[in-house]
Amino acid sequence: MDKIAVLDFGGQYAHLIANRIRRLGVYSEILDGTTKSYMLEKYKGIVFSGGPASVKAADSVKCDPKVFDLGIPVLGICYGHQLMGYLCGGDVAKGSVREYGPAVIKFSKRDSIFKGIKEEEPVWMSHFDQVVKLPAGFELVGSSSDCEIAAMMNLDKKLFGVQFHPEVTHTPCGMTILENFVALTSAKREWNIDSYIEDITQDIKKKVGKKKVFLLVSGGVDSTVAFLLISKALGTENVYGLFVDTGFMRMNERKEVEESLKKVGVTNLHVYDASEEYFDTLRGIVNPETKRKLIGDLFLDIQEKVSDDLKLNYEDWIIAQGTIYPDTIETGGTKYADKIKTHHNRVPRIQELIKGGKVIEPLSQLYKDEVRLVGERLGLEHKMIWRHPFPGPGLAVRCLCSDNKDYPENYKETENRINEVTSKLNLSARILPIKSVGVQGDERTYKHPLAILGSEEDWNSLSKLGTQMTNQFPDVNRVIYALNVTHIDSLATHDCDLSKDRISLLQQADRIVMDFIREAKIDRDIWQFPTVLVPLSVNSQHGESLVLRPVCSEEAMTANFYQMSFENLNELAKRLSTLKGITGIFYDITNKPPGTIEWE
Ligand code: XMP
Repeated sequence: MDKIAVLDFGGQYAHLIANRIRRLGVYSEILDGTTKSYMLEKYKGIVFSGGPASVKAADSVKCDPKVFDLGIPVLGICYGHQLMGYLCGGDVAKGSVREYGPAVIKFSKRDSIFKGIKEEEPVWMSHFDQVVKLPAGFELVGSSSDCEIAAMMNLDKKLFGVQFHPEVTHTPCGMTILENFVALTSAKREWNIDSYIEDITQDIKKKVGKKKVFLLVSGGVDSTVAFLLISKALGTENVYGLFVDTGFMRMNERKEVEESLKKVGVTNLHVYDASEEYFDTLRGIVNPETKRKLIGDLFLDIQEKVSDDLKLNYEDWIIAQGTIYPDTIETGGTKYADKIKTHHNRVPRIQELIKGGKVIEPLSQLYKDEVRLVGERLGLEHKMIWRHPFPGPGLAVRCLCSDNKDYPENYKETENRINEVTSKLNLSARILPIKSVGVQGDERTYKHPLAILGSEEDWNSLSKLGTQMTNQFPDVNRVIYALNVTHIDSLATHDCDLSKDRISLLQQADRIVMDFIREAKIDRDIWQFPTVLVPLSVNSQHGESLVLRPVCSEEAMTANFYQMSFENLNELAKRLSTLKGITGIFYDITNKPPGTIEWE
């Protein structure tokens, strides 16, 4: 199949570029930025991703300079554009201002890959360095007010550079540019999901042979589609699916997965009810990181136990996983990061099995939207296909525990300073005696949420206030807006752990939320919607509080809080307030960064 390579220089959008090219019908894969030119000869086109470094820094990742002599069309984006400019003989320097976010480009040339776009186009930028001198043979194509060489090309050598990001939706002409580039490469558009399903089905049959397949089904889209795909290829009786019920799943989760699969003829799903083991192990545990570790360790123990019970040996069995493409490719962004979140499908034991050919991963070349297409083609229900992502530890990381009243030092003084700001907007604020995780800089930090109280119904003004609070007050990493109270007279925490009662209360709340957003038809606008139970009694003797955390995101690296209409929100809060024991209901108005999507 004809392919286009995306050379990764550590930019967070490398996957997005490859995904966009695939949507245009050409298979695209991500390669390390330093890949030697002879290994790129088989590709029809090459795209350079963005990256965080400065091309002139000695230790920045650079491509093989021979890439420019292959005669293959190259498109450089952001850092990739600067790299092209620099290595082809131009110059790069810091701009006078940074450009982050929207900018307007005036195009002086509109042919080749810039054909069909307007003379002035809004684009999305994120850079400080810029190309300040065109390399020989290149012509200027477009400029913004703060970046003269924002687009350039060398038509003879088919080299193109853009400082802006054509791969993001905030650049409306981006797809036209990428489409033109793909056309210029003459790559045949052979990538489509139907032929993929046919090919992978043959591949599964060949690799598995007469063995049986074992697969852990989590209830998420990926493992469910993998289970269905393999069952269709081999017959449901030959594929043993195991659903481990940790007790921290959503209400009725396992039943829903079972029923959806049954409807498409997959019946070989078994349930291991581990909830008692989980509740026992987590009794008395409060620290969020300890919770996570215990949950992860117990999962591996259970997997081992079930394997032993099944007498799972590798002569008769093969393991399957629902790993998808982004999980298999360490992009520059994660490769060079200090703290890598190891994907559970890539722990050392599994790596060993993969090397020995004992694992199949039929979705490992696909992006999430492509996995959903496969599910659709195979007849899976929409409800299953469009599930929001759900973390492995489940509701356990959405149920905060406590063993003391946790206020920052001198919090009253900070709170008074905060209230000087909020009172100007007729709002008041309380620092909460609990902590939640956030990302500030490159670190995960546990700090305090700030509750805002009042009757404001303008999201923009609340959002601005939230950002101001987290920027100005280092003790605060998250801001939440109270939905059911306008004043807090009393505020208390209580000692608690992950009890069955608390998880059950959270399941009920989560169910109300998920049903409501489906009913209001806003579930597809929201990328993920955690509902969080926090041990806070508001204006009452004893109870709990809920925090709603709907976000809009692409791939979870950054996120904005979702701005639900107040009409919907009031209805949702009304439904939640019928739950017994709920004293406060809050709406998280923190973006990521500084607040992570989950609360732990
Ligand atoms: P944060 O909270 O870091 O989450 O903004 C980003 C995305 O990752 C999910 N998440 C997890 N998924 N195991 C998982 O499988 C985990 O331990 C885990 N922690 C966070 C989270 O739901 C969000 O989609």
